[in-house]
Amino acid sequence: MESFIEIMKNKKIVSASAPGKLMLFGEHSVVYGHPCIVTAVDQRLTVNIHENGEDVFTLEAPDLQLHAYAKTMEDLGKKPLPKGVRFIEILYKNFLKKHPQERGIHVTTRNEFNHTFGFGSSSAVTVAFAKALTTLYDITLTNKDLFDLCYEAVIEVQGVGSGFDIAAAIWGGTIFYVPAAEEVIQLNVEELPLVVGYTGIKADTPTIVRMVASLKNREPDKVEQIFENITVIVKKAQQAFIDDDKQFLGNLASNNQDLLRELGVSTKELDNLIKASEQAGSYGAKLSGAGGGDCMIAFSNGNKSNIEKAIDDAGGKVLHIKTNAPGVRIESSNK
Ligand code: MEV
Repeated sequence: MESFIEIMKNKKIVSASAPGKLMLFGEHSVVYGHPCIVTAVDQRLTVNIHENGEDVFTLEAPDLQLHAYAKTMEDLGKKPLPKGVRFIEILYKNFLKKHPQERGIHVTTRNEFNHTFGFGSSSAVTVAFAKALTTLYDITLTNKDLFDLCYEAVIEVQGVGSGFDIAAAIWGGTIFYVPAAEEVIQLNVEELPLVVGYTGIKADTPTIVRMVASLKNREPDKVEQIFENITVIVKKAQQAFIDDDKQFLGNLASNNQDLLRELGVSTKELDNLIKASEQAGSYGAKLSGAGGGDCMIAFSNGNKSNIEKAIDDAGGKVLHIKTNAPGVRIESSNK
């Protein structure tokens, strides 16, 4: 048996990063199998891993307020399961069932995200970790296989979700997505002309998804019709991206927002920022994500600074992020 020192000397270290996401069209209906359009953003989460030579899983994640976290291999997935480690730990447990290993791993994470803004750090950490882990053990997966590994963990942890955020973290760019990655089409767009405004209110996605589920139980016909109408918008938006028709994209965003309001997921704060951006000349705007707070997006008419000022004056915080970012990638590996 190798000594601990020998193991550390020969250790293989893999580092992978994955981007966050911004939902553009089709939130909520995508949970029920309809398509959506999502873009990856330039906020990345990086995961480093190496074998630690012990029968234990250890993690250091300062951005997630987790220090010297440790679990024996047989306790993987058992409580306590702090928020910051849940996705990684469950994925690791599932991975080991399929690919048993003798030694545990040490994981560190580095986060460019600000948690509050809802850009999908959970999906990014899950995807970056899965990519690093499979690379460490020389397992080559297609994007779809990587998706399935990550989606299984996310559903085990949070019970709901369409997986659009995982797809954005894996494929990157701007994609037309049908759950669960049954269809993923790259839209090959340039950097999008978007202004992103944060309401200052943190929303909890699973809670809002469950709220829509309960409305759908009570009023199935109404909600199905809303989802059908959103789907028509998503398909038109797919073509508008291909045609690079920014004005039409803005109009479609406003139409999508009307339907999200009917679903009851918009808020006074979101509506205020959306209205302010429209008054400042944006082509159209909508909430992005689950609603209940978080962010709105406005399609700019070319004069971004006017729209940014209007959002700022209306009490929002303008977030300067780049869209269409690359998907998961290996940053370094000494294998
Ligand atoms: C949340 O950002 C988007 C939702 O459609 C949920 C999901 O797709 O998992 C509301």
